[in-house]
Amino acid sequence: MARIPFIAGNWKLNHGPRAAAELALGLREQLADRGDVTVAVFPTALSMHSVLPILEGTGIHVGVQDIAAKQSGAFTGSNSAEMARELGCSYALIGHSERRQLWGETDAAVRAKIDTARAAGLLPMVCIGETLTEREAGRVEEVVFRQLSAAFDGLEADVAATLTVAYEPVWAIGTGVTASPDQAQEVHQSLRGWLADHYPPFVSEQMRLLYGGSVKPTNAAELLGCADIDGALVGGASLKAESFAGIIAATR
Ligand code: PGA
Repeated sequence: MARIPFIAGNWKLNHGPRAAAELALGLREQLADRGDVTVAVFPTALSMHSVLPILEGTGIHVGVQDIAAKQSGAFTGSNSAEMARELGCSYALIGHSERRQLWGETDAAVRAKIDTARAAGLLPMVCIGETLTEREAGRVEEVVFRQLSAAFDGLEADVAATLTVAYEPVWAIGTGVTASPDQAQEVHQSLRGWLADHYPPFVSEQMRLLYGGSVKPTNAAELLGCADIDGALVGGASLKAESFAGIIAATR
């Protein structure tokens, strides 16, 4: 079954309101006629107000980079899924390795945030991936399966199918070192196998599995050409319209 490619840009803590608006304008110009690929960008919460009106009606989705596990309350400094939805966001990035490593986000917290996102009407994009030490110890499958099991724990098939999973080996994020297409495909194939073992066939057949970690216009085509890689979650190369558009062009 053919899955529509999905290219997402994680702007992380970059581009304040002015720079974010410029980038959004660039994307609006460059991506006008791309109905054959799903595109989403994740600006910082503080730039949402400048990005959302520019991308409205373009088909480019906007998501929030992280959400609190609760919709509101005494959680100073956090972002609410409900509030992001009210603003016009449609996706929530959950469990990015920077959240896991720098904020100590656990598998259980990731699982809770999936419910919170869904309750608010946001589509979760869940990030998983091993560290270099874990890879060198031969523990890749063990780690990503643990992260997957926790994220999907108790989710019915029709709910599970609405999630997007981004496999991002931690050693490839922001390092310029990309997993080779063979390395990435091997893990993606295992992930799809895990889904097929735990759910009816339509879940593994429909779910888009994105690769992330130093994706650039120059390496996107060979990664996206792999059977089980349905798209990319892009950090650094999503910060300029030309390079992000170059990656999107590689889906053709
Ligand atoms: P990178 O980041 O493309 O800069 O490696 C990817 C990510 O963290 O999502």
